[in-house]
Amino acid sequence: MEGKVVEVQAAWREGAHVDDAQYRAMYEASVSDPDAFWGEHGKRIDWMTPFTKVKNTSFAPGQVSIKWFEDGKTNVAYNCIDRHLETRGDQTAIIWEGDNPDESKHITYRELHAQVCRMANVLRNRGVSKGDRVTLYMPMIPEAAYAMLACARLGAIHAIVFGGFSPDSLASRIQGCTSKVVITADEGLRGGRKVPLKANVDEAIKRLGSDLVEHVIVVRRTGGSVAMEPGRDVYYDEAAEQVTDHCPAEAVEAEHPLFILYTSGSTGQPKGVVHTTGGYLVYASMTHQYVFDYREGDVYWCTADVGWVTGHSYIVYGPLANGATTLMFEGIPTYPSTSRFWEVVDKHKVNIFYTAPTAIRSLMGGGEGPVKKTSRQSLRVLGSVGEPINPEAWEWYYNVVGEQRCSIVDTWWQTETGGILITPLPGATALKPGSATRPFFGVTPEMVDAEGKVLQGPCEGNLCIADSWPGQMRTVYGDHERFEQTYFSTYPGKYFTGDGARRDADGYYWITGRVDDVINVSGHRMGTAEVESSLVAHPKVAEAAVVGYPHNVKGQGIYAYVTLNDGEEGDDALRKELVTWVRKDIGPIASPDLIQFAPGLPKTRSGKIMRRILRKIAEDDFGSLGDTSTLAEPAVVDDLIENRQNRP
Ligand code: WTA
Repeated sequence: MEGKVVEVQAAWREGAHVDDAQYRAMYEASVSDPDAFWGEHGKRIDWMTPFTKVKNTSFAPGQVSIKWFEDGKTNVAYNCIDRHLETRGDQTAIIWEGDNPDESKHITYRELHAQVCRMANVLRNRGVSKGDRVTLYMPMIPEAAYAMLACARLGAIHAIVFGGFSPDSLASRIQGCTSKVVITADEGLRGGRKVPLKANVDEAIKRLGSDLVEHVIVVRRTGGSVAMEPGRDVYYDEAAEQVTDHCPAEAVEAEHPLFILYTSGSTGQPKGVVHTTGGYLVYASMTHQYVFDYREGDVYWCTADVGWVTGHSYIVYGPLANGATTLMFEGIPTYPSTSRFWEVVDKHKVNIFYTAPTAIRSLMGGGEGPVKKTSRQSLRVLGSVGEPINPEAWEWYYNVVGEQRCSIVDTWWQTETGGILITPLPGATALKPGSATRPFFGVTPEMVDAEGKVLQGPCEGNLCIADSWPGQMRTVYGDHERFEQTYFSTYPGKYFTGDGARRDADGYYWITGRVDDVINVSGHRMGTAEVESSLVAHPKVAEAAVVGYPHNVKGQGIYAYVTLNDGEEGDDALRKELVTWVRKDIGPIASPDLIQFAPGLPKTRSGKIMRRILRKIAEDDFGSLGDTSTLAEPAVVDDLIENRQNRP
């Protein structure tokens, strides 16, 4: 597989921002003198107070500190809206495509300005000001973007919780960042089905059992009837009538937090990843421009949800900072039919399309027919994100969707990185199916072995980043020690990504997946510890261990080994009950795919669960279980193998 190379086509190079030689020169400049490089590119956004300092960062043990452009002041909403008004006020900023194919609308930059100012005033009237946290629990409607930008306009910090998370997950995130205001919608609409967002917010607030949340702002989406608590809840349209559409953009320090986004790690509860203002926006906008080779007038579509980091950086902030037309899609790839993505591409003449391998794999299952009946002539660049793209899916994307005419950018990054770190650039990088290829400007990947020894040349190991880039997360909200511990203690002095990778003789990176206890289900991060603690909270469960296994569509599936309390019987009914339990507790994305009832789990004599063995069994790979003689009870392994659940 490694042998296959798809050379840059002449058409991709034509008019591209950079070719290979320019990439190499810019990359070299970016890593040899980051101050000069980012000092220059930091000017791609407008500053209310220009910065004089560029990079001030340290990965040193006990002193991790990351500051970029620290003495500058700016405002993200100003950069995403106001500065475009003079030149592109009447240009479409957001194309919204509804779940229902008959529903769509275009919002110009001027309209976006008015809407965001109104939303900001509604927030301000409810006491929201600089530094306050606002939780968003929204469907994919333009108001989600308005709310994000309204917070940014005031210097408030948004914390978006994906609409698929349960009331419990929502409650712990509201609590985690002590939000006094929640913005939601009556109901969401996905694939023709309603999602009870407001009811979930009510439930979450009830579980909080405190009066922390003072205001709930409810956008009417479906018009479905929902309970409204007098004094606390208000319909957005009614509140918006009371305010003007003028609201100044507050100049904030470059290092003022823009948002918090909770993400799963290998231990404990999700962490609040904090991104700040200046460096984040410079990095998001610059990567959006170069990685997608974004050109003036392009229609750009990222299919992610704003509940994930991809939606933050590449639906809202990056594209709008660049004055692009960004498409926001409320629905799902298979509704009303599996041609939907390509029909939307034709309807809005999309030039750049960015999605996840899991979507590609699920559509591959339906064959070429649903793709072929659409034109897709507008497409030029196709992006992939969220998990490793297997070469078969890459080929299908390239040959069938892109008809060998479009370049593919397999973009590797993380919630923590703020923007894309390893990726091809369309006019510059020869492609290898399955490889995220080379680092973006300013990014210094380093491969280390288990002991932390830095590896040279072609190798396989753990992926670290040696030095800071402007889009990097700054801290874990309220817990800087956890930030240092999680990312900088495994290999002191380096940022450890949690991913394993291979580097080939051309210096290309092939991400192989997480090496920690994080699993990636349909491109969504899930900590095995979270699913385990949900399972053991069930009254019949004594112990649980969760691992990932290869899944044809989802990339990884969730395999749970469950030990029941004495006297409990493990059957299909209980399996169903446990799945429902976890869905309710965390959300549908955490549902175990397979549950094996196990009388015992393989443990060391000191009582540590041997996950390596559980992983191998879940992967059907018993030949290489390794040494099991150190187990407290080696016989449990035979039982586990015998009763393993078959993959669908
Ligand atoms: C994985 C999503 C291989 C990786 C932006 C990473 C990828 C995790 C790729 C972050 C890719 C993301 N190739 N693996 N192109 N993109 N990943 O925080 O394991 O939701 O650590 O950010 O997804 O997931 P997160």
